[in-house]
Amino acid sequence: MDMKTVREDARKKLKGFCRVCPVCDGRVCAGEVPGMGGLGTASSFRANIEALARVRLQMRTIHPVKEPKLSFSLWGRTLSMPILVAPMTGSTYNMGGAMTEEQFVAELAAGALQAGTIAMTGDGADPSMFGSGLAAGKANRASTIAIIKPRAQEVIVSYLRQAEEAGVLATGMDVDGAGLVTMAMKGQPVGPKTFEELREVIGATQLPFIVKGVMTVDEAEAAVRAGAAAIVVSNHGGRVLDSVPGAAEVLPAIADRVKGKAMVFADGGVRSGTDVLKLLALGADAVLIGRPMITAVYGGGRDGVALALNQLRNELLQAMLLTGTADVGQVARSILAP
Ligand SMILES: Cc1cc2nc3c(=O)[nH]c(=O)nc-3n(C[C@H](O)[C@H](O)[C@H](O)COP(=O)(O)O)c2cc1C
Repeated sequence: MDMKTVREDARKKLKGFCRVCPVCDGRVCAGEVPGMGGLGTASSFRANIEALARVRLQMRTIHPVKEPKLSFSLWGRTLSMPILVAPMTGSTYNMGGAMTEEQFVAELAAGALQAGTIAMTGDGADPSMFGSGLAAGKANRASTIAIIKPRAQEVIVSYLRQAEEAGVLATGMDVDGAGLVTMAMKGQPVGPKTFEELREVIGATQLPFIVKGVMTVDEAEAAVRAGAAAIVVSNHGGRVLDSVPGAAEVLPAIADRVKGKAMVFADGGVRSGTDVLKLLALGADAVLIGRPMITAVYGGGRDGVALALNQLRNELLQAMLLTGTADVGQVARSILAP
């Protein structure tokens, strides 16, 4: 199996829902939500790509870094790389349905585990989607993180109990799912949370809790004050609000304020190991990969996912060698060109 075959097979199986473009940048699929695109003009999706493209690396090759360290510790686990699979749902309405939701998420989780890392699993308009994610976790040595939509408080607490029973590594909420009218239309209302509501939800579980979808310094601080063990700097792949900056634009200010108090993850438009290194240099502890993992799983199942993740890891390793970066845990901002 190689990435070329994986991508060709994915293009067939995704039936036009994703064209598997040479560069996945949100142009061709603009406005396709449901689907794989960014909302509206897809400017938020493109902002993720453009913000990363603007960041440049200083190449350095006269230094002693010959064997960079790529392993990453996360709540008692040692992962092979600071790269996780982002939570994604909607195999039928977003991806064309060649895989069932259960297969899709189980293969993602298995592929992540095969590559030595983990997948987050999501929640969607059909409540069974959250359950599919938990089942994928159970089938894969509980190596998943379950992300819940900002539902009614009591519903979230019942989902937290299910996640705890499934033995997941951590849980969390994509707070930026607050405006999803599709959820309300299907009788699954979601909405913004007050600070007190967020604190109540986080206080309702002993598991590490991740607040996903933070784009401002004040909300990052609020999430940490509410008890979050981690935040994800993310605009949801540009799928929830048009005209939002790219994650790489807002990350440095957020990381400067909360890094060390909580883990800082970031996602959006990460397409190479070089992109991963850029986000680490801008202050992330780890990054999540979204759409490229859909191509990988549709085109090659768990082996495709492991292949794509290992390719990212190799690219990250190479970028570390060529910037003199010894450890993913200590990436200097000075590797970035001024
Ligand atoms: C088809 C699709 C479904 C998604 N479903 C969810 C979800 O259920 N929960 C969630 O927190 N994020 C969801 N996301 C957002 C991703 O977790 C992630 O933030 C985003 O895709 C990262 O950008 P990238 O795809 O450019 O890498 C979804 C994204 C896509 C493309």
